[in-house]
Amino acid sequence: MKSLVVYSSKSGNTKKLAEAVYNHLSGEKEIFAVADAPDPAGYDFVAVGFWLQGGQPDPDSQAFLAKIAEGQDLYLFATHGAAAGSPHAENAMNAAKSIAAKGHVIATFSCPGQVPEKVLEMASKKDPQPPWLADAPAAVGHPDETDVKNVVRLLVELDLP
Ligand SMILES: Cc1cc2nc3c(=O)[nH]c(=O)nc-3n(C[C@H](O)[C@H](O)[C@H](O)COP(=O)(O)O)c2cc1C
Repeated sequence: MKSLVVYSSKSGNTKKLAEAVYNHLSGEKEIFAVADAPDPAGYDFVAVGFWLQGGQPDPDSQAFLAKIAEGQDLYLFATHGAAAGSPHAENAMNAAKSIAAKGHVIATFSCPGQVPEKVLEMASKKDPQPPWLADAPAAVGHPDETDVKNVVRLLVELDLP
């Protein structure tokens, strides 16, 4: 069993989840920032963590997701300024699934991730304001300990590696 964790993370939120996933995995395993990620072919299990930009998985993650091979077991996880379970967050997860359409998604997880002050300032000046902005105050402090537990809990519940 050979596992690969790939994450994209500008301000560290998604990286925090990725490291928890990586630490939980047993057997042969590797973790890479998306810029250094190898071709996913040849791995039995791939976990991909992305952040939301413009309501979509960030562009680097989209490029990586497009390389997922036929039938490859996938765990998708994400962080976002939007509330957990919001249509905004769900649409983005669905977009990730469609990009990695060849893969076999076994589970998904997403949670809020604190948005840097400068980004909030810029977003608040936009007209119209982005739909996730109203949720951003509740993202402060996330991902927290519970989010980290939950991203791993799914792996345990599904008896993933
Ligand atoms: C340029 C930019 C665009 C963003 N756009 C969105 C967005 O469309 N939807 C959203 O929910 N969050 C958005 N966010 C918030 C980030 O997705 C969120 O803070 C995430 O946790 C960042 O993850 P990271 O720390 O791993 O980079 C945006 C943040 C930045 C910097």
